[in-house]
Amino acid sequence: MTPGNVLMVCLGNICRSPLAHGILEHHLNNTAYLVDSAGTSSYHIGGPPDPRSIHTAQAHQIDISQQKARQFTVKDFDRFDYIYVMDCQNLANVLALATTQSHQENVQLLLDTEEVEDPYYGGTDGFEIVFQKIEKACKQILSKWKH
Ligand code: 4NP
Repeated sequence: MTPGNVLMVCLGNICRSPLAHGILEHHLNNTAYLVDSAGTSSYHIGGPPDPRSIHTAQAHQIDISQQKARQFTVKDFDRFDYIYVMDCQNLANVLALATTQSHQENVQLLLDTEEVEDPYYGGTDGFEIVFQKIEKACKQILSKWKH
């Protein structure tokens, strides 16, 4: 896989995708590539990540507290080489905005065989589970880049 700019996408851009953004950036450790995140909804635009995501990242020495939520836009298809979504609803929402086949081809679920489920309405444990799933996927992406 060719290295490139990566956008992580979920619904609110306050729980899952800020973690994915922070985790990938942390392991990539290379500013040559842009890593960002966005939500398909407008619910939390301009707001910080959920405190549970901030604390979970902090427990793994990753600081996501300065991130600000934004909404996915059509322009993101051109700015990012890889758009990773957390669940099937995010996938449908992003694909609905694609106008070309190449845009569609850059969008995929972050995990190959399952969704990263929304932890928003659950307890703190859910955030650590989400962290572990996302970190595994990010490491897989980066290992594919290196070969
Ligand atoms: P996220 O979680 O998509 O992982 O950021 C959610 C955050 C907020 C809401 C839903 C999911 N909400 O309905 O406000």
